[in-house]
Amino acid sequence: MSVTAVVGAQWGDEGKGRVVDLLAQESDVVVRFGGGNNAGHTVVNEHGTFRLHLLPSGVFNPRAWNVIGAGCVIDPGALLTEMAEVRKEGATLERFLVSERAHVVMPYHLALDGLDEDRRSGSGAAIGTTRKGIGPCYSDKAARLGVQMGDLLDRDHLAARVRAVTALKNAVITRIYEGEPFDPEQLIETLWEQGRQLDGHIGDTLPVVQDALARDARILLEGQLGALRDLDWGTYPYVTSSYPTAGGAASGAGIPPHRITRVIGVAKAYTTAVGAGPFPAELHDDDGMKLREVGGEYGATTGRPRRCGWFDALAVRHSAMLNGFTSICLTKLDVLDDFESIGVCTGYRVNGEVLDRVPLARLMERAEPVLETHAGWRTSTREARTEADLPAAARAYVHRLEELSRVPIEFVSVGAEREAMVVRS
Ligand code: GDP
Ligand code: IMO
Ligand code: MG
Repeated sequence: MSVTAVVGAQWGDEGKGRVVDLLAQESDVVVRFGGGNNAGHTVVNEHGTFRLHLLPSGVFNPRAWNVIGAGCVIDPGALLTEMAEVRKEGATLERFLVSERAHVVMPYHLALDGLDEDRRSGSGAAIGTTRKGIGPCYSDKAARLGVQMGDLLDRDHLAARVRAVTALKNAVITRIYEGEPFDPEQLIETLWEQGRQLDGHIGDTLPVVQDALARDARILLEGQLGALRDLDWGTYPYVTSSYPTAGGAASGAGIPPHRITRVIGVAKAYTTAVGAGPFPAELHDDDGMKLREVGGEYGATTGRPRRCGWFDALAVRHSAMLNGFTSICLTKLDVLDDFESIGVCTGYRVNGEVLDRVPLARLMERAEPVLETHAGWRTSTREARTEADLPAAARAYVHRLEELSRVPIEFVSVGAEREAMVVRS
């Protein structure tokens, strides 16, 4: 019996999709538990290279159920496009279910995400969101103004709900932003049509998940983003609007917390972030550029260049505490193959004091990194499959990150492909 959560230990894009794709081969149910198509999870397998935004990264295992849980927010048009794409490449989607409780990202959420960001940019306070409507959708969910996926299957209910909510949203869009209002009748038509196309894939996901628990099946919970973008514990306000931790996994997937047996934190061997906010270990020099180019660090969803820096031990320790990692999968070690020396951030110097834990964003913004330097190994690790295959300096580096994170590093990824993984004993 196992329920494994795979969650991001940094600011997102750690390689969760790659890890979930690998573990999904041995899973019966894969659940996306939070977020929406702000995520971009890259999977490289025998079918090709895919950037999955909404679909769980287990869709390429035809034996597994793939579930989008109640904690997610869904742009139905984006979901249909993605479903068509993976079907073309051989995924059957016969066992794919979206929670009727998940919320719909409405066209006005997309518009408001852009309008809010533009307004914040004007006052120098932009968050750098993906503009996929995520924040406005979760705001409406909390304000009890949301439309749920199950609403798409009942035309009368959908129409009444959309008319009521769109009137409020239009008031904000036209009177505050002087933007164009949305025609509720057109929204109803589009959503009804999308609901019909998704019929058979929208339903109560609880029986699938709970039956799997009851028969001790293997369940995989796929996180999005990372703990540093968590709404409660991230670098607020430079966060997303959901809970990308193991706690969020329990709630968003509908799994009792004590049934989660394994929490794998995915951490890059260095750090990246997209969007604004404090990032003390960020590099603005040639090493930062090199990490970006060698690591291909461009957003899978927006194409934005990712900000790059050295491994931040405080950030990963923070995530480990919040998530209770049972182990870490360290990814992209191979990206460091050609560095003469490699830095690791072990403290934040703020106002003359050295902190060893993540403070509020306003203090983190002023932090200078305390760095230790490691010798590089200047040789390829891409063919390594056991720890003994790694050069001594790489082994020492991994060992030091393990010590600083206070969590065993169980896997070391040395390439994007399924087989490019070192399993440590
Ligand atoms: P996610 O959002 O956490 O799933 O990660 P992304 O897919 O956004 O970003 C990770 C990127 O790194 C993708 O392009 C992966 O194909 C790639 N990747 C994952 N693991 C490795 C690795 O060990 N080495 C290299 N070179 N690339 C990797
Ligand atoms: P995966 O799952 C990296 C970032 C945005 C922004 C902040 C809020 O692929 O790791 P939002 O659109 O969610 O309101 O933006 O979160 N962000 C991501 N960064 N990877 C992602 O997903 C992200 N999803 C959102 O850049 O800083
Ligand atoms: Mg990503």
